[in-house]
Amino acid sequence: MSRERAIAVIDSGVGGLTVAKEVMRQLPEERIVYVGDNARCPYGSKSPEEIRTYSFQMIDFVMNTPLKALVIACNTATAVVLEEAKAYLPLPVIGVIDPGARAAVQATKSGHIGVIGTETTIRTKAYERALLRVQPDLTVSGMACPAFVPLVENHMADSDEARRVVRETLAPLVGQELDTLILGCTHYPLLAPIIQDVMGDQVTLISSAEETARELSLQIAAIEEQPSIRPSTGVPQHLFVTSGETNRFRSIAEEWLDCQVHVEHHTMEK
Ligand code: SIN
Repeated sequence: MSRERAIAVIDSGVGGLTVAKEVMRQLPEERIVYVGDNARCPYGSKSPEEIRTYSFQMIDFVMNTPLKALVIACNTATAVVLEEAKAYLPLPVIGVIDPGARAAVQATKSGHIGVIGTETTIRTKAYERALLRVQPDLTVSGMACPAFVPLVENHMADSDEARRVVRETLAPLVGQELDTLILGCTHYPLLAPIIQDVMGDQVTLISSAEETARELSLQIAAIEEQPSIRPSTGVPQHLFVTSGETNRFRSIAEEWLDCQVHVEHHTMEK
């Protein structure tokens, strides 16, 4: 195992692979330790207390590895535990909501932004607050899409069923004035071609992944100024850990990341 510190990416399942892929692209020498809690996915329909417990179990698990930074790649977990995790950990902790909000504000021309996410993410209004902090005169339309995550977790993102579910769910947003739609759940970029087709080409889809990886790069550059943190070099050996089925995780990860991945199983505490 590499002695260099890794970047931890935690998620409720496979959705955070969208963030991991962007981290690999922007920071190709950094080693990633990815944890997906597939056995308990989706988080979006769980209570805040359950989300908090599950998220901290993943955090405690990845803290067994020497880390440079932690990315909470799940929007639902970011909405519920980001501030607490930042206070708990002695390293940079990055969520996906502020980066996604910043990217959306840069993209919108009409000032009307849609946000789709899990029930918890929408209920907490975390995106709305983040957007209005950047630009207070925006119009924000939020909508929960609880049927989307199971499509992705069940490896059905490119199916007729996915097309039907996405079309029916997004119908209330189609034809609204919004010109920008935040994919406020890390699973949704895997449905992006269908979402784009339903919303139309005039709507820009925003995935937090790119902006999150950019923020991570800045924070990594800052901490590598410390003498105890060595810059990473060479080809990193990434590690993927799932609490669910390794074969299903591997096939989704290899398809999405377009490379072979090493997957291990870990049962999170009950
Ligand atoms: C979920 O676990 O319900 C979705 C993950 C997310 O909110 O990004």
